[in-house]
Amino acid sequence: MTSPRTTLSLVDTDPAELAVDAIVIGVHSQTGEPEAGAPAAALLLASGAESIAAAFDGKLTETLALLGATGGPGEVIKLATLGTVTAPVVAAVGLGPEPTGAAPAPETLRRAAGAAVRALAGAPRVALALPLPDDADAPAALRAVAEGALLGGYRFAGYKTKPQPARREPVGEVLIAVPDAADATAGAEVTRAQAVAGAVRTSRDWVNTAPNELRPPSFADAVATAAREAGLGVEVLDEEALRAGGYGGIIAVGQGSEAPPRLVKLTYTPEGGGNGKRVALVGKGITFDTGGISIKPAQGMWEMKSDMAGAAAVGAAMLAVAALKPAVAVTGYLPMAENMPSGTSYRPGDVITMYSGKRVEVLNTDAEGRMILADAIARACEDGADYLFETSTLTGGQVIALGKKIAGVMGSPELCERVKVAGEATGEPAWPMPLPDDVRKGMDSEVADISQVNAVMDRAGHMLQGGVFLREFVSPDVSWAHIDIAGPGYHSGEPTGYWTKGGTGVPVRTLLHLVDDIAANG
Ligand code: BES
Ligand code: MN
Ligand code: ZN
Repeated sequence: MTSPRTTLSLVDTDPAELAVDAIVIGVHSQTGEPEAGAPAAALLLASGAESIAAAFDGKLTETLALLGATGGPGEVIKLATLGTVTAPVVAAVGLGPEPTGAAPAPETLRRAAGAAVRALAGAPRVALALPLPDDADAPAALRAVAEGALLGGYRFAGYKTKPQPARREPVGEVLIAVPDAADATAGAEVTRAQAVAGAVRTSRDWVNTAPNELRPPSFADAVATAAREAGLGVEVLDEEALRAGGYGGIIAVGQGSEAPPRLVKLTYTPEGGGNGKRVALVGKGITFDTGGISIKPAQGMWEMKSDMAGAAAVGAAMLAVAALKPAVAVTGYLPMAENMPSGTSYRPGDVITMYSGKRVEVLNTDAEGRMILADAIARACEDGADYLFETSTLTGGQVIALGKKIAGVMGSPELCERVKVAGEATGEPAWPMPLPDDVRKGMDSEVADISQVNAVMDRAGHMLQGGVFLREFVSPDVSWAHIDIAGPGYHSGEPTGYWTKGGTGVPVRTLLHLVDDIAANG
C-alpha cells in the first residue's frame, strides 16, 4: 500500500506574485511587553513575508492577530487574500519566539513546514515563503523546510472502500521560495530531501500497512522488490535457509506462526570502494507481536503492527542510500518474524542455540525482538563491519524512561554520542544510556550462557537489559549502537508538525545522517 507523493521545487519569483493556491509565511510570537500604543497581541512577521506584508498595506499582522494568531509553534491561521496577492490564501504558520540574532532552528522550520502543508490539505499547489538564512546555515534550513513539507504532506492510503467526500487531498506540489532557485547547493538539498523524505514515507507506509497484509514473506517481498529496483544487492533467506544456516533465534520466534520468518540482506557497494569503511544497519522486523505464549493484554495490542518499524527504517534508508550514493559501503539486515502463540511456538524455558553459537534461555516469549536481532547482528559482524547501527521497537522500558519522542541509545560510547548528534541535526532526538554490569549479572542463566531477560523478571533497567543482551552478539572489533525506538517509532496521538498518525519513519533520517557522517569523516 503506497501513499500518494508530493512534488517539490524551488522558486525565486516574488511570493506575492506566485500562482499557487496558498502561500505560507512565518510569524513569531511577540515576547516581552508590547510597546506603548502597539496592539496587545502583536505578532512579528518572519523574513520571507515582506512582499506579502507590503501588499496588505501594513495590516497583515494586525489582521492575523484578530483571527487568533499568536505565533505559537504548530499554529496555522489562514487568511483570504481577495486579490491583494496572486495566491487566494495566505497561511501564517507559528514559529514561536524569534531567536535573538539567529534564524529559527532547522527543526522549528521542519515542523512549521510540516504543520502548514498538513493544514493546507485540499490545496493542490502551495508555496512556502519561510525565513531562510543566507549564511552557512542556509543548506540545513532549506533541507529542514523541504523535509518538513514532504513529510507533512504524507497520508497513508488506507483501506476505506468508499471515497471520502469530505476528505481533502494532501498537497500535491510544494514550491519553496529561495533567493536563487538556480543555486547548485540549494538544488542538491532538494534532491537529497526528496530521496530522504521518500524513504521516510516508504517506512511509514510499511508500518501503517495492516499486519494481516504484511507478514514476513510479503514484507520480505516488498523490501526485496523495492531494493532490486533501486539497484541494491538483495539476498533473502527463507525458513529453510534460516534453519540450515543455524539462525536459532529467528527460527524460534518465527516457528509459532504459519507465516514463516525471513532474513533480508541488502547491499550497497560504493563506486571505487568508497572510503573503505563498512556500515551495517540492522532493524527489528516483527510484523506482529502478540507476545507469543507470554501473551500481551488485549488493550493496545493492535499497535504491535508497528513492531517492524526498525526493519522498515533500515529497508527504507537503504533505498535512499542507493539513490544518494554515499562514499561508504552500507549493508542492511532485516530479520522478520511474526510472534504468535500456537502449538508450535517457542516457550518459556526453551534453550535456543543462536547463530553465534551462544545458548540463550528463554524466560519470556515477549522478549522476541532481541532473539531475532541477535542472529542478524552476529551475521552482520561475520560479514564484516566497522560500524553497526541496530534499531528496534525493543522495550516498553524505553517509553517509561524517555517517553514517546526520545529514543534510547546503548553501545560503544563514542558511537552513541554520534547517534545523539545525528539526532539533534535531524530532529530525531536520541539519548545515550548505560550498559551496567549488574544488569548483565541479573541475566546470568542457571542452564544456558545467558537469559533472555532478568531472571527475576522484575523489569528493573528494562531498556538496558535489551542493550546488554544484544551486546553479547556484537564482535569486539565492531563499534555499535542500539537505538530503541519503542516510543518514537509510532505516533498514536493527533498529527503534529510533520508527524502524522501512525508510523513516524524514525530513525530513517538519523541513519542517513550517520551514513553521510561516516562517508565524510570515517
Ligand atoms: N515490541 C515490544 C516492545 C514495545 C512495547 C514496543 C511498547 C512499542 C511499544 C517488545 O517485543 C516487548 O514486548 N518487550 C517487552 C520486554 C519484556 C518481556 C522483557 C516489554 O516491553 O514489556
Ligand atoms: Mn514482545
Ligand atoms: Zn516486540
